[in-house]
Amino acid sequence: MATNGTALPRPLGLLAELTHRCPLGCPYCSNPLALDPRADELDTATWARVLNEAAALGVLQVHLSGGEPASRRDLVEITAAARSAGLYTNLITSGVGVTTQRLAALAEAGLDHVQVSIQDSEEKSADHIAGYDGAYARKRALAAAVVALKLPLTVNAVIHRANIARVENLVALALEMGATRVEIAHVQYYGWALKNRATLMPTRAQVDEAVKAVEELRKRHHGRIVIDAVVPDYHARFPKPCVGGWGRRSLNVTPAGRVLPCHAAESIPGLEFWSVRDHSLEEIWISSPAFTAFRGTAFLPEPCQTCERREIDFGGCRCQAFALTGDARATDPVCQLSPHHALVAELANVQEDRSYSYRRM
Ligand code: SF4
Ligand code: FES
Repeated sequence: MATNGTALPRPLGLLAELTHRCPLGCPYCSNPLALDPRADELDTATWARVLNEAAALGVLQVHLSGGEPASRRDLVEITAAARSAGLYTNLITSGVGVTTQRLAALAEAGLDHVQVSIQDSEEKSADHIAGYDGAYARKRALAAAVVALKLPLTVNAVIHRANIARVENLVALALEMGATRVEIAHVQYYGWALKNRATLMPTRAQVDEAVKAVEELRKRHHGRIVIDAVVPDYHARFPKPCVGGWGRRSLNVTPAGRVLPCHAAESIPGLEFWSVRDHSLEEIWISSPAFTAFRGTAFLPEPCQTCERREIDFGGCRCQAFALTGDARATDPVCQLSPHHALVAELANVQEDRSYSYRRM
């Protein structure tokens, strides 16, 4: 693909946020502060068109997500549309709202993979974090049904101060659930999670322990389960190449049809997002204002502009740069070379024992 004589990368993945409705109330929810109401959600035919356009654009994988995607009555039809577009289809679910029969229908429709989130290895704590009694038991039941259907299962464990000491138990639980992969994902602090940052923030000592535990567990369980984990942002020396670089690898379609370069992009004021209701996905990818705003590295200030890592991490995360400095073009302050890095170190040391502010739609 080329535009203005410059080669543009093709996206590989599309996150389809089918709905913002969700039965859980996780305090680290990454969905935007203003949620799309049900009445604004795209209909089945529009999703089918978008999935076909995605495949034509080069997308290989679609992640059916939310909120809770099972809150959509047409989840089976959307899954079938993804399959018929030739996309590898991954369902990202809280596990609440997917019955065994519905899962079988999804498998029949062509679902390739299921990713279930778990809040903790201890039932009481897991339900407390999710803000939903009985969530843990329903997740276990869904995982068992996924394995019985011989669908590959990934367990996604979001960790923070309340559960970081149980990394070993979380991996053991993922194995017991029949997962072939577990993602140890530290909370990312934007959107709703910012409200709970000091309550969720682990201590430096906890993070060091968890990093050691992951290394040991990888050796112990080699060949049985893949353990994906990265050092959490606030404790890292260099930032991650967030979303593989803005406008380089992936797109997000919101429930109402706005197309975003990353799931938190709406937290950056002043960006103009085009909708699939008015434009094709290809037009949006190539020339929408939001996708072109931070594509490449030309916009980056010093020290990134002359840094040898700029084509590796693209200056880090735009949403985090904005959340911490008020300037989305700034070097991500997670980077030890950023002039704002001291702020990250300071925030990483703020821990408060307060009740969670739960996310409710
Ligand atoms: Fe990455 Fe910029 Fe830090 Fe270099 S200065 S490591 S490009 S964030
Ligand atoms: Fe938006 Fe990182 S979450 S660029």
